[in-house]
Amino acid sequence: MLVAALAALLAVQGAAALQATTTTDIPRWCGKPYESGSPNSIPSGWLDAPEPLATQSLYVQVEPRYNIYVSSEKTGSFIVDAALSQYHGQPYHQDIQVPGLASQLFTDLYFTITVESTGQVLVANAVTVNTTDNLFDFDISLLEPRFDAYDIKLYGLSLDGLQVYTATTQLYYLPDKLTGSVTKIDNLNGGLLFKNNATNFEFVPFFAFGFYTNYGGYLELSLENVKAYYDLGYTAIHPIPSFSANLTTILDYLDELNLLFQYDMRGTYTNLTSVAEQVTMVKDYSSLLVYYTADEPDGNQDPLNSTSLAYDTITKLDKYHPIGLALNCQNYYFEDYSAGADYLMEDAYPIGINATFSKKWDTPCNVTYGDCGCDNCVGELQDVSNRLDDFALYQEYLGQWPKPRWAVPQSFDGEEYWSRDPTVNETWVMNQLAVNHGAKSIMLWTYPTTDVLAAANSQQSKVLANSPALDFVTGAKPKAIPIKGNDLLDVSYWTVGKQIMVSVVNLDYASTSSAVTIPLPFWASSIASSPWGSIEWDLSGNTLTVQGLDALATSLVILNV
Ligand SMILES: *[C@@H]1O[C@H](CO)[C@@H](O)[C@H](O)[C@H]1NC(C)=O
Ligand SMILES: *[C@@H]1O[C@H](CO)[C@@H](O)[C@H](O)[C@H]1NC(C)=O
Ligand SMILES: *[C@@H]1O[C@H](CO)[C@@H](O)[C@H](O)[C@H]1NC(C)=O
Ligand SMILES: *[C@@H]1O[C@H](CO)[C@@H](O)[C@H](O)[C@H]1NC(C)=O
Ligand SMILES: *[C@@H]1O[C@H](CO)[C@@H](O)[C@H](O)[C@H]1NC(C)=O
Ligand SMILES: *[C@@H]1O[C@H](CO)[C@@H](O)[C@H](O)[C@H]1NC(C)=O
Ligand SMILES: *[C@@H]1O[C@H](CO)[C@@H](O)[C@H](O)[C@H]1NC(C)=O
Ligand SMILES: *[C@@H]1O[C@H](CO)[C@@H](O)[C@H](O)[C@H]1NC(C)=O
Repeated sequence: MLVAALAALLAVQGAAALQATTTTDIPRWCGKPYESGSPNSIPSGWLDAPEPLATQSLYVQVEPRYNIYVSSEKTGSFIVDAALSQYHGQPYHQDIQVPGLASQLFTDLYFTITVESTGQVLVANAVTVNTTDNLFDFDISLLEPRFDAYDIKLYGLSLDGLQVYTATTQLYYLPDKLTGSVTKIDNLNGGLLFKNNATNFEFVPFFAFGFYTNYGGYLELSLENVKAYYDLGYTAIHPIPSFSANLTTILDYLDELNLLFQYDMRGTYTNLTSVAEQVTMVKDYSSLLVYYTADEPDGNQDPLNSTSLAYDTITKLDKYHPIGLALNCQNYYFEDYSAGADYLMEDAYPIGINATFSKKWDTPCNVTYGDCGCDNCVGELQDVSNRLDDFALYQEYLGQWPKPRWAVPQSFDGEEYWSRDPTVNETWVMNQLAVNHGAKSIMLWTYPTTDVLAAANSQQSKVLANSPALDFVTGAKPKAIPIKGNDLLDVSYWTVGKQIMVSVVNLDYASTSSAVTIPLPFWASSIASSPWGSIEWDLSGNTLTVQGLDALATSLVILNV
């Protein structure tokens, strides 16, 4: 809706207005002037849907199943998408004529996947047009492990050989690493796999559920503080810089606890000398999970190339750990800032804001002006899921292979734009809502928080980040179940083997005593378990029913199919 509103606005005001924004030096957040008295101007850097293509098109993409492989792995896998797209790809003509045969429909794309430099064929096969997520295994041990990527090319043809499609990607087959840790991204479902000494150097699925945590005022003070956090059962931690000389004491202790950390270089990530020093210092910790470079570079309007420059610096030294960052804006130079990341974090904090008037700056907030603490938000729970959906949509606009999206949900106590803390129910709703919309990890802002929120998130972390919920959340992509006539029920499900996990989030602040029915797009035979929530669902074939639903109720239920 906001996208449409701004697009309309831009259309009315024309390109001249856009030009005008690039020249002034008034302070801006997400490209918008926010100080009282600053002239209004339209922010640049807005990403819109591309022009639809004139003819129906086939968009062929190829991507390794994992962003890296290591030399102890013998089987690799490529994902091949052959989607009909309105934005990307080459024209697709359905009718084909093969000499000697009756005219046919172009339903199968025949392809090879080769190493570009040598022509070595890794896969020769076919996919059905208008399908995605097709997996093709190959013998990766035919390749020499090395630090540089292999450039990979897919070459595809229609049966008559007249329609040609190509796609490229990069494949990493690294020498195995038996010190520290290795983290890889599952390009199919978006989750993480992690190995270190605590996993016997076997990759295991991993969901980070933890807090950005105060370093100078908390972690640094004593190892007891680190232990207190660990004892809450979170799977990961994100220490917030700046750090001090005794950082290594803290990190050694994280190793000992096997509490995995996201290493943050905000404040220093544009200094590539410093980045290189820091990566060299942390890269062999067994509890290193991932890197984090920029904190809200878009809000802050950091140089557009800054995230990519940091990314290149890090990957030259360490390709064994993914790199992420948090974007604050709804839509501000998304392509540039996201280019420097393997995974993207959103941090919309909607609870207790005034979305239309900033008390801090004494200005109105709208799509072209002001800063109300949550860019282009409405001030409702759905701001979180909308932001995650927006990021997925932008990647679709750009024709990119989707990067995993993580959430940074609001779970702090008393900061400037926010008149109140989220309640326990709101916290649970925001976290589970994020997962319903594809979030593959949760790093809350910020710890220490209130005891109430620390305990509430701890409870949820123990369920979401562990089996059985973990197996579903990392083992598949969520599929949404729209509920006719009730926009306030957000429902998703994940299918893994012969079981399906259904997640129900009630966004309604009022309870209802009438029956609530979830129509399932599949048939289930029985309820296996209910890892989260106290709703007692009745399963009947392809419906889940409950008599009455509490305000802001959250539920996870696992079904046998
Ligand atoms: C946003 O607010 C500013 C300041 O009041 C105003 O000048 C501008 O027209 C508003 N923009 C929109 C899109 O309403
Ligand atoms: C492509 O697949 C979708 C379902 O996934 C179907 O609705 C659509 O009709 C198909 N399009 C063509 C041209 O086959
Ligand atoms: C870190 O250093 C500070 C000041 O030098 C000291 O007070 C603190 O105890 C140290 N923390 C740990 C965990 O060693
Ligand atoms: C893993 O190695 C770290 C040192 O890198 C050590 O502190 C920790 O105790 C080891 N954990 C296990 C489970 O062996
Ligand atoms: C960049 O980092 C290096 C290494 O830490 C430091 O010596 C240098 O002063 C930093 N440069 C700036 C401009 O801060
Ligand atoms: C990065 O962008 C800045 C402008 O914001 C430019 O001055 C600098 O040269 C660029 N650096 C590289 C390596 O391209
Ligand atoms: C936001 O602030 C304006 C101006 O003080 C006020 O009129 C409005 O009611 C507030 N909205 C909310 C949701 O608090
Ligand atoms: C919180 O949600 C539970 C159900 O999950 C409900 O019983 C309770 O009334 C809710 N609390 C508030 C304050 O809405």
